[in-house]
Amino acid sequence: RRVSLIGAPTDIGAGARGASMGPEAMRVAGLQTTLESHEVEVQDRGNLGGPSNPWLPPVEGYRHLEQVVAWNRAVHDAVHAELADGRMPILLGGDHCLAIGSISAVARHCRETGKRLRVLWLDAHADFNTSRLTPSGNIHGMPVACLCGHGPKELVEIGGQVPALNPKWVRQIGIRSVDPGEKRFVHEVGLEVFDMRYIDEMGMRHTMELALATLDANTHLHVSFDVDFLDPEIAPGVGTTIPGGPTYREAQLCMEMIADTGRLASLDVMELNPALDVRNKTAVLAVDLIESLFGKSTLMRAPR
Ligand code: ARG
Ligand code: MN
Ligand code: MN
Ligand code: MN
Repeated sequence: RRVSLIGAPTDIGAGARGASMGPEAMRVAGLQTTLESHEVEVQDRGNLGGPSNPWLPPVEGYRHLEQVVAWNRAVHDAVHAELADGRMPILLGGDHCLAIGSISAVARHCRETGKRLRVLWLDAHADFNTSRLTPSGNIHGMPVACLCGHGPKELVEIGGQVPALNPKWVRQIGIRSVDPGEKRFVHEVGLEVFDMRYIDEMGMRHTMELALATLDANTHLHVSFDVDFLDPEIAPGVGTTIPGGPTYREAQLCMEMIADTGRLASLDVMELNPALDVRNKTAVLAVDLIESLFGKSTLMRAPR
């Protein structure tokens, strides 16, 4: 397997500063050597560039729209180039607005190669706001809606086809914070959400079995991992902590079951905020979980 690390050092879509330091914290936590220990060939492409964060209030429901567009164009081009080259992109965020650029590139690549696309959205939040619904104007709360065609033209059209995603291709896991208007919209569109209530009642194993059902040999599996998916007790280094997330064991099982499918083809690691972390422990945990995503297991396991 051949992987490319792409750093996107910005917090342009977030409500707290600091996710711009995420890529370097993941490197310091040893992401590259950890992947290399699992027979992955890794190229670190370094960091993308883009506008700095002017830290202005929202305008017509969007904070920093122009800068968010610039960053997402850069991410789109970089992620698409790696996929076209037959490599697996790992986007190191940066805040979650950048999933618009990343997943629109994945969707475009799937159209070009005739692949089916499945997106797993691991997050405390649904990120399904629009300019009318958002309580904050922060665009990191809007990427799934934008990818499904609901958002400003410049963002919705980044992948060349509108919408980039059919909501039926998405499975959300770990959700426990959805704003009132956002909640209605998620329901209206029919997004498939495995919220924490579902995981509490049914367990992570059953949840992942359903979320990963109907993958086939022709499926491109994209994982968009917002680090605030994890319980803040184990992962404090994020800007929008919500209590009651998956435990260490639940998160490991989630990653291991994704690995077992053998279909992982692209990954976002988003919202890591070293300014809020404790001795880089959230980055170390993220690397540990990514190791499981790439097939680390305690014992040899027969393919399922
Ligand atoms: N729903 C809230 C908002 O729209 C929080 C979104 C948090 N998103 C994230 N990617 N951390 O502002
Ligand atoms: Mn989140
Ligand atoms: Mn998110
Ligand atoms: Mn493991």
